[in-house]
Amino acid sequence: MSKFWSSMVKRTEPYVPGEQVIQPNIVKLNTNENPYPPSPKVMEAIRGEMERNLQLYPSPTADDLRATVGRSYGLSADEVFVGNGSDEVLAFSFMAFFEPGQAIRFPAVTYSFYPVYAKLFDIPYEEVPLNDDFTLQVDQFFQSEGGVILPNPNAPTSLYTELEHIEAIVKNNPDKVVIIDEAYIDFASKSAAELIQQYDNLLVVQTTSKSRSLAGLRVGFAMGNTSLIAALVRIKDSFNSYTLDRLALVGAQAAFEDEAYFAETTGKIIATRNKIQTTLEQLGFSVPPSQANFVFASHETVSAEYLYNALKKRGILVRYFNKPGIDNYLRITIGTDEQMKQFAVKLREILEK
Ligand SMILES: Cc1ncc(COP(=O)(O)O)c(C=O)c1O
Repeated sequence: MSKFWSSMVKRTEPYVPGEQVIQPNIVKLNTNENPYPPSPKVMEAIRGEMERNLQLYPSPTADDLRATVGRSYGLSADEVFVGNGSDEVLAFSFMAFFEPGQAIRFPAVTYSFYPVYAKLFDIPYEEVPLNDDFTLQVDQFFQSEGGVILPNPNAPTSLYTELEHIEAIVKNNPDKVVIIDEAYIDFASKSAAELIQQYDNLLVVQTTSKSRSLAGLRVGFAMGNTSLIAALVRIKDSFNSYTLDRLALVGAQAAFEDEAYFAETTGKIIATRNKIQTTLEQLGFSVPPSQANFVFASHETVSAEYLYNALKKRGILVRYFNKPGIDNYLRITIGTDEQMKQFAVKLREILEK
C-alpha cells in the first residue's frame, strides 16, 4: 500500500490466473487451453499480415471480424463487439451495464474474475448459492437489483444450464442486463445467441481462447442488441481505440472461416472428455456431467489437495481451488487422448499407493 495509490487501486483484489509453466514434458491441464494448435489458415493469415501492414494501425472498428463473427450467428456486425480476450469484454460490460450502488447477482461458485471486476468498479454483488449437485437455483436470479452475470457452462463446475432456464432469467430481469458468459459453449449445446433478437437486455460473451485454440492471441467478443453493443463501443473508445492488433484481427477471422477445423478439434475434445469422465468414475471419482473442455472431479477417499500435489510432482498440472464448497475438487482440462492417458496412468499410480 502506498499513499500514491488511488482508492480504486486500494480496493482491488486482482485475479490470480492459473500457473503458466514452460517446463518441457509437463502435461498442462490447468488453464482450459485447447491442446490442438490453431487452424493452419490462422498461421497463414498472421504470416501474410506480418509481411504487409505492421507499420500501420489496425482498424479501430474491426468491421471485417465483427461481420464474420456475426454471420456465424445470423447477426449483423452492429450486434457484435470484439475485444482483447473475453476478460476485457467482460470488464467493459461491467462498466457499461452495472451501477455502483445496485447489487448484481452471480453464482456462489463461478468464474472468480466476477468479484474482482465488481470490486474494481465498486459494484455490490450477491452470490447465489448453487444446489448440492451444482445446478443453478434459477429463480434466485429473477428481479435482480443491478443485473446478472453467469457463465454457461459454468466454471469451474462444467455444468450446462438449459436455454429455457437462461431465457427465464433474462425474461425476469427486463430492466437489467443479463450477461451470459459462454466461454465454453462450443463444447456444450445451444448458445443463448439465438435469443438476442427477442430480448434487448441479453448480452452473450464468447471467446476464441478455448474452442478456436487462440488463448495466446487474445480475442473475445460480445453479441447483443445494437444499443448494448453501442455502449461497449463508447467504453472502448474512451479507453483505447485499438484493443485488437492486426495479427489478432486477421487470425481470429481466419479461425472463424475454417469451420471444418473447428468442428474436427472440438469433436475430438468432446470425445476425449467423455472417455476420461468414464475412467475417472472407474477410479472412484464423482464427476458432474461436463459440457465444457474440462471436468470437475472429486475422489471418494483421497483429498483433492493431495492429488493436486502428487500429480504436480509427477509432471501433471491440474487446477485446485482452495475455496469452501469446492476444496475437494480438481478441475482437469481436456488434453489430447495421449495426454489424458498419461494423466490416468499417474493418477492410478497415486491412488494405488
Ligand atoms: C468463464 C470464463 N469466462 C471468461 C474467460 C476468459 O477468457 P479469455 O479472456 O481468454 O477470452 C475464462 C477463461 O478461463 C473463463 O473460464
